[in-house]
Formats: sequence, C-alpha cells, structure tokens
Amino acid sequence: MKKVVIHKPGGYHRLVIETHRDPAPGPGEVLIDVAAIGVNYADCVTRMGLYASAKHYIGYPITPGFEISGTVQTTGSAVTDLAPGTAVMAVTRFNAYATRVVVKRSQVMPLPPALSAEAAAGFPAVALTAWYALFELAHPRDGETMLVHSAAGGVGSMLVQLGKLADCRVIGVVGSAHKVDAVRALGAAAVIDKSSRDLWKQVEQLAPAGCDIILDANGVSTLKQSYRHLAPMGRLVVYGFHSMLATHGGMPRKLKLALDYWRTPRFSPFDMTTRNRSVLGFNLSFLFEQSERLDRGLQQLLEWLEQGKLVAPRITTYPLDRVADAHRDLESGQTIGKLVLVV
Ligand SMILES: NC(=O)c1ccc[n+]([C@@H]2O[C@H](COP(=O)([O-])OP(=O)(O)OC[C@H]3O[C@@H](n4cnc5c(N)ncnc54)[C@H](OP(=O)(O)O)[C@@H]3O)[C@@H](O)[C@H]2O)c1
Repeated sequence: MKKVVIHKPGGYHRLVIETHRDPAPGPGEVLIDVAAIGVNYADCVTRMGLYASAKHYIGYPITPGFEISGTVQTTGSAVTDLAPGTAVMAVTRFNAYATRVVVKRSQVMPLPPALSAEAAAGFPAVALTAWYALFELAHPRDGETMLVHSAAGGVGSMLVQLGKLADCRVIGVVGSAHKVDAVRALGAAAVIDKSSRDLWKQVEQLAPAGCDIILDANGVSTLKQSYRHLAPMGRLVVYGFHSMLATHGGMPRKLKLALDYWRTPRFSPFDMTTRNRSVLGFNLSFLFEQSERLDRGLQQLLEWLEQGKLVAPRITTYPLDRVADAHRDLESGQTIGKLVLVV
C-alpha cells in the first residue's frame, strides 16, 4: 500500500508518498481499499506541525487525514456484517492519506446511495463539524440571524445549509468575489464579499440588532468584531484560527503567528454576563470518544442527505500523487467546497 508520510513538520515537500506493507485488521477492525480521501484544512495545519491533536495522539512521523471512502478488503474477527467488496465510507483520527486503511468497525458505514465515492470521502468531517457547532453548541431557533464566516468552504458550505434547515436567516461571508454565487446557491439570504466591501458595515446593515449566532474559524482577523456583533443572547462559536496562517508558501510565519496569538481576544466573563453573550469552542478531533453523540449526528446528516434536504459540498479532485497541490490550493483561501484525493 501507499501512504503519505510527514516525517517532520514543514512545507509541501514534507508530504512524502511511501510504499509500506498492507496493514492487517485486528479483532473488530476493517481493512478498506481506499477510493477517495477528504482533505481538510486541519491536514495542512498537521503538516505545518501546529495541530494539537496530531501531536497529542500520534506525533511525527504522521499520516494525516480523517475520512475515506472505498471498498471492504477484509475484516478482522468479530466483524460479521461487512462482506468484502462492500462500498463504504469511514472516519479515522489520522492515517487516512493511504491506499489501504484499517479502521474500527464502528467508524465504517455503508456508502450512502446519495453520494459518489468522492463526495462521500469529503462529507463526514465538514458535515459533523457544522452539525456539532450548530446543534450541539449554538442551538438555533426559528428566525434567528446566523452569520457564517468562510461560507463557501468545506465546513462553511455545510453550516449555510444546516442554518437554513434550522429556519435561520443565514448571512454568508466570503473572502473573494468568485465565491458569492456558490453561497447564494446554498440558500444564504445574503452574502457579503469582504474583499470588496466593509464586512462589519454590511453586517450592521443586514442585522442592525446584532447576530444571534456567529460561526468563526478565522480567529484573530474577525473574532473581536464577531463578539461585538452578537445580539443579546447571541452565541459565538469558535472552531478554527486559519487567519493566523499564510495563504502561500506552506509554512507558518513565526512572527505573525506569535503576534496573532497575542492579538487573539480573550473574552471577559464579566462582559459576557452583563451583555448576555456566549462564546463556545470545540475541536472534533479531540471528541472521537464521544461516539454515541457523533453517530447520532452522522445518522441525522445522512437522513437529510437521503431526503434531499442537504447536499454534499462541491468537490474538486486531485490524484493522490498531487497531494501537495491540494494542500497548496486549500491554503490559498481561494477554493470552494471540498478537495478530495483520488486513489
Ligand atoms: N474545530 C473543529 O473541530 C474543526 C473541524 C473541521 C474544520 N475546522 C476548521 O474550520 C475551518 C475550515 O476548514 P475547511 O477544511 O472547511 O477549510 P475551507 O473553509 O474549505 O478553507 C479555508 C477557508 O478559510 C478562509 N481563510 C481565511 N484566512 C485564511 C488563511 N490565512 N489561510 C487559508 N484560508 C483562509 C478562506 O475562505 P474566505 O476567504 O472565503 O473566508 C478559505 O477558503 C478551518 O479553520 C479548520 O481548521 C475545525
């Protein structure tokens, strides 16, 4: 089997494709012949050596990746309900960038009829992230105004749709003009292109009383203003910090990183209490043990998919040996939807 190994954190050249012995499934595990692999921004952060759960659970060398689709090659003992050849998708905490992957049976599900193998590989991580942020943390109510930063991206495009499903009025924010139509097509009531218009003036015009929910993975570039633009009882969900990182070059700039770290707002419990504003945060890769909760989320998401209430993100595919290009493009901040590696 082939896998992408990052021996040391660094730039794109650290994504090395190596040949290894096929892994063997242990009891309760499944060996999957991989067809497609989802690329997440977290994979880029892992390559740079800045992803906390990568260091916590694996260290370096590491094979990144959280999600795959493919077919069952063989199963370990105690797995009796998945025949070889069954088309499946699966989630895994790292190790997904490979042509053969072993995962626990509980992390494998049959390929949903509504999804191609490529779309399935790009679905679970962003869909579950958006579901958790919205339904487990923000608890949307009918008619609430919800602001989604980076609304054309993988997680963002799911958040826009889930916000609509929860009967919220969704305002999407994008960083480039070419993304506006994609977010409108997902059902956003309004889309702000912050590259050509003042973001917060637009937000004040569209939501004069403030936003009830704001979903922010930019970090330092918007967090302070996101908090300021919450309505009373508003919830700010923080789930990423991508604006600390460079959009080209593949390496973090140390000085910028340090400055941005110090500039990132620390929210005051006194202010939160007086103004009735909440700040919530999470990282799904530290929540793998919450399998009952995440299974419930995934089942709900797949049901919406089957019912046509939800569509998988738009997919752009790259052959596995162009993994560096996929990282470069995702880091550029110009992509729409999800990037997927095909084997
Ligand atoms: N906490 C969790 O469990 C969890 C799980 C999954 C993802 N995430 C986070 O969610 C965010 C979105 O992830 P994704 O995989 O779906 O990526 P994505 O949204 O498809 O791509 C990242 C987007 O962020 C924006 N961006 C702003 N500044 C950027 C910068 N300096 N570098 C690169 N992009 C920048 C760009 O959109 P605009 O310019 O249009 O804003 C870009 O398209 C990431 O921050 C990721 O770490 C968190």
